[in-house]
Amino acid sequence: MAFIDTIKERAKANKKVIVLPECMDPRTYEAAVKITAEGIAEIALIATPEDIEKYSNGADLTGIRVVDPSTDPNRQKYIDKFVELRKSKGLTPEQAEEQMMKDYMYYACLMCKCGDADGAVSGACHSTGNTIRPALQLLKTKPGIHSVSGFFLMEVPNCEFGENGLFVFADCAVNTDFDSEKLAEIAGLSAESFRAFVGAEPRVAMLSYSTMGSAKHDDVTKVAEAVKIAKEKFPDIKLDGELQFDAAIVGSVAALKAPNSEVAGKANTIVFPSLEAGNIGYKLVQRLAKAGAYGPILQGLSMPVNDLSRGCFADDIVGVVAMTAVQAQMND
Ligand code: ACO
Repeated sequence: MAFIDTIKERAKANKKVIVLPECMDPRTYEAAVKITAEGIAEIALIATPEDIEKYSNGADLTGIRVVDPSTDPNRQKYIDKFVELRKSKGLTPEQAEEQMMKDYMYYACLMCKCGDADGAVSGACHSTGNTIRPALQLLKTKPGIHSVSGFFLMEVPNCEFGENGLFVFADCAVNTDFDSEKLAEIAGLSAESFRAFVGAEPRVAMLSYSTMGSAKHDDVTKVAEAVKIAKEKFPDIKLDGELQFDAAIVGSVAALKAPNSEVAGKANTIVFPSLEAGNIGYKLVQRLAKAGAYGPILQGLSMPVNDLSRGCFADDIVGVVAMTAVQAQMND
């Protein structure tokens, strides 16, 4: 069974409420109808009757919870919660209302925060920054986590590397500045994500252009230091570095460059040293190896919120909703 089909089956087993706030995009309606028909999640769609008229292409919304913010009885509750959460920033009720009515991703996050939904998916027509900022501001990180990061679940066809072609790649989406502490935290979260989604033991490689001291530079030291921190913090996780990508996944290269590593040559969870490397790396594999790239899935948030690519198809939205629902199940 393809990776995403296993995730859909898991989502169906314990249905969660997932909010879709992008009512101005026809793909949202198409995806909502498919998700509902397949029983993957209960969809709460934020939309006015005018939005539906204009963008739904006449979709049959039976079984979908439509939340019209202009008449929603919960609206005042969300304004109050927004003000409470942002009081340190001096947010007034008027500003709160204006913000959430103008940007439904805020509305969606407030629904999650108030317990009216279990997760949210957006980004088909909004940038990554605009999609995740409301979640960072309102939902915040899980206890003990400092930074949210974003991974892709890569499914590489006909591939003997990783976990039969399955990998977690991180951080490919969120953090623009990395230090060793942050890299170590990303390694721990990525291992957890791999275990949760693939159901196999993670083997984490922390990447560099150097393998075990073969090059000297501050960039290399940063990764080597992150490996040290991560090994101390997560003694039960199989993790090693710094490793070049070939040494991380190819046994014969690992035998030459890192013969004493229990991870080198067998890595399935790949931590990149910078956002440039992570973002470019996943796109190279996606395009050149024709890999499935599911994500970016955010890790470390207190409730699941996920982003879409603006070039996505309705089926991609269905897949990301299924992954979000599975993340929500983990919060039970
Ligand atoms: N983890 C947790 N909280 C965070 C993080 C993080 N990684 N980053 C920012 N925050 C919090 C801040 O603490 C702040 O909280 P506060 O308002 O309560 O004080 C809030 O989020 C806003 O933070 P800012 O520093 O003002 O950051 P900004 O909103 O400018 O940007 C963002 C945050 C959106 C994550 C930014 O780092 C960004 O744009 N990252 C790159 C996204 C991107 O373009 N990725 C590549 C494309 S994705 C793709 O190709 C699939």
